[in-house]
Amino acid sequence: LSVREARVEDLLQMQQTNLWCLPENYNLKYYLYHILSWPQLLYVAEDHKAKVVGYVLAKMEEDDEPAHGHITSLSVLRTHRKCGLATKLMTSSHDRMQECFDAAHVALHVRRSNRAAFHLYSETLDYHIRDVEKGYYADGEDAYDMRKTFKLTK
Ligand code: ACO
Repeated sequence: LSVREARVEDLLQMQQTNLWCLPENYNLKYYLYHILSWPQLLYVAEDHKAKVVGYVLAKMEEDDEPAHGHITSLSVLRTHRKCGLATKLMTSSHDRMQECFDAAHVALHVRRSNRAAFHLYSETLDYHIRDVEKGYYADGEDAYDMRKTFKLTK
């Protein structure tokens, strides 16, 4: 298993992984928009047969002050969970947000009921809850609006 920067030819497999893992889905145009705009921030995990088993889709919010990153979507196939892949995908993207775009922080939304992802964000990756967005998801579930502040390295 390895984690590497995503390439355009990975996008269909990333989209398929997303369809298997999450109810929030996106058309291919949206994946293309991410990789054309911020190619440094998209990562995949692949198995020994070069099959994509996880991905992180991320972007920059560059018009806001200060510039910051946003995690659009993250998932790992059920067969490959709890091996540290999501942690590796996320930290890879976080590092590039700081190196390439001087991001001050990174934000994301997660379902209130999503215990696995909430543990990853709050315990492993040091995100904190900024707000609760009532009825954020299409089925009416609330979202935690979470943020991780990057430490100044300069
Ligand atoms: N319950 C509790 N804790 C868990 C669970 C679980 N089911 N799964 C993982 N964890 C913990 C791990 O023990 C680990 O904790 P530690 O650092 O204290 O040891 C931590 O979370 C990270 O584990 P990883 O192995 O890096 O995570 P994994 O590769 O299993 O992926 C993920 C986690 C992405 C949430 C996976 O379960 C998944 O794909 N779920 C379905 C899709 C999803 O919910 N995506 C996130 C939606 S929010 C968004 O996209 C912005």
